Amino acid sequence: MSTIQKVGIIGGGQMGSGIAEVNARAGLDVVVVEVSDAAADAAQHRVQASLDKATSRGKITAAEAAAVVKRVRVTTDLGDLKDRDLVIEAATEIEHIKLEVFAKVGGLLERDDAVLASNTSSIPIVKLGAVSGRSGHVLGVHFFNPAPVMNLVELIPSLTTKQETLDRVRSFVSDTLHKQPIEATDRAGFVVNSLLVPYLLSAIRMYEAGYASAGDIDNGMKLGCGHPMGPLALSDLIGLDTVRAIGISMYDEFKEPLFSPPPLLDRMVDAGLLGKKSGQGFYPYE
Ligand code: CAA
Repeated sequence: MSTIQKVGIIGGGQMGSGIAEVNARAGLDVVVVEVSDAAADAAQHRVQASLDKATSRGKITAAEAAAVVKRVRVTTDLGDLKDRDLVIEAATEIEHIKLEVFAKVGGLLERDDAVLASNTSSIPIVKLGAVSGRSGHVLGVHFFNPAPVMNLVELIPSLTTKQETLDRVRSFVSDTLHKQPIEATDRAGFVVNSLLVPYLLSAIRMYEAGYASAGDIDNGMKLGCGHPMGPLALSDLIGLDTVRAIGISMYDEFKEPLFSPPPLLDRMVDAGLLGKKSGQGFYPYE
């Protein structure tokens, strides 16, 4: 049996609620911490909606879904994380917010070997480790959206992560969560976003330049290359604010123009057009 049985998730947004579901479906006891009662209710609702979808698709039975819900407790008190074996931070992709969270949570975990992980896509793990006061037990554990469906998890040790921490989490991801881990260096973007984000930003530039319609750009990649969704629909799914934030972190790190968000993306984020989660991005959503 894995030594990781009690899991905490910080943030119950799109990624946090998906990661909570993945852990609860693996039989683990899960606490999700949100910033307000309203956000906590929304997180609970997201887990339920995803389980309903999984049930309607025949992935799990209604009884299994009900048992999964019982394993997820949503709270607004970070102190509820103190007895956790593993905490995965999935807060907004803003560096100062993540640094504050790591400083607070690093100081309250009771177990010496408790692991504090970040689902960041691009913020240096070494910085999060440094403020936590327990850098040997800090690493990146990066899930993909939608977390209950996508099988990959990137593991990102920093210069100060202990080998035993990485080994323990790798076994946990493959043997308990039944997902495929790959290892990446602590550089903005890791493996997948380093390849994916310049592609998404290129599609947005193409749309901005009037090269083709959104539907034709997306159909081009779906029908011509066999992608499950086109780059503009995928940007909407990830969240345009998140795509922009990742692009900025990668541009800051490498100064590579392809990573720099185009003006249209900036304006859409400023306007609150964030994609699927806000109801409107390149496409409208219910
Ligand atoms: N729980 C369990 N299974 C689910 C589910 C849920 N909540 N929702 C859907 N599924 C299953 C379905 O049952 C189906 O399984 P089968 O193929 O075995 O029948 C499968 O997932 C596909 O679902 P749908 O039939 O509903 O098909 P869809 O068209 O709605 O697919 C999609 C949705 C899975 C999102 C697909 O379009 C896809 O793979 N898109 C690409 C997603 C992607 O690239 N994600 C990575 C984003 S990058 C990222 O996340 C990192 C970052 O840092 C930004």
